[in-house]
Amino acid sequence: MRQRTTDGSAGDADYGSIGTNYAVYRRPDPRIAEAISRALGQARTVLNVGAGAGSYESVARQVTAVEPAAAMRAQRPADLPEAIDAVAEDVPFADNTFDAAMTTFSVHQWSDVAAGLREMRRVATGPVLVLTCDPQRVRDFWLHEYAPLVLDTEARRYPAIEDITRILGGTVTVEPVPIPLDCTDGFNEAYYGRPERLLDPGARQACSAWSFVAEATRAHYVDQLRADLDSGAWDQRHGHLRRQPEFTGSLVLVRALP
Ligand SMILES: C[S@@+](CC[C@H](N)C(=O)[O-])C[C@H]1O[C@@H](n2cnc3c(N)ncnc32)[C@H](O)[C@@H]1O
Repeated sequence: MRQRTTDGSAGDADYGSIGTNYAVYRRPDPRIAEAISRALGQARTVLNVGAGAGSYESVARQVTAVEPAAAMRAQRPADLPEAIDAVAEDVPFADNTFDAAMTTFSVHQWSDVAAGLREMRRVATGPVLVLTCDPQRVRDFWLHEYAPLVLDTEARRYPAIEDITRILGGTVTVEPVPIPLDCTDGFNEAYYGRPERLLDPGARQACSAWSFVAEATRAHYVDQLRADLDSGAWDQRHGHLRRQPEFTGSLVLVRALP
């Protein structure tokens, strides 16, 4: 198990330093929430692992949240229950405690993905959902032209989808999740048609992959993007995306039934 930071962060990113404004930039998107809700089906009790500031938790269900980073727990809205300070690899619940378990944008940060997924499977009687990115598709996004080391970092961190499905076992489906043009959850691909948003340092900080790249390199990447936006070069190559209502990128929803 990885050493936890002073803020409690248990993954490969320290949310004590990068997580302060997470909830401002990473607001749950209602269309993605709908896909998760469909996949949860009739589940009434749900465990959310790596719950962060509570994105994609439904007040219509009885959700139990697990989140190791204090900076993230502190950003949970008042209408959501407090998150329990624990890690995916060892959740403090008996077998079959919940109808379902979910994790969103978190599994790539765990020190032991297999242990965490096995824990989710152990404590849920019904669907286990993993909203994550397919590492095989991460580099297809135009941002790779500008910030290659950022997306190389993402591609290296995300577990292979085949590994997730094999570890969860049972009956598994993997669905691409279309990203809407006005997506409110600011992960990198959410800005596919709004590239100017990535010039905002806060938007980049809310995507942990940027924190793995040296500051001078990041600054160079941003300068290049800004220059291509100013000259029209970005629009020549990718401008059609500004009008494309949805983008199917690397985002997928894995759903495993026992
Ligand atoms: C990108 S945030 C996603 C938060 C939230 N699920 C969302 O969709 O906005 C990743 C979260 O995973 C948490 N995390 C990292 N390693 C973890 C681990 N080993 N066990 C549980 N959570 C972990 C981090 O603390 C962070 O809150």
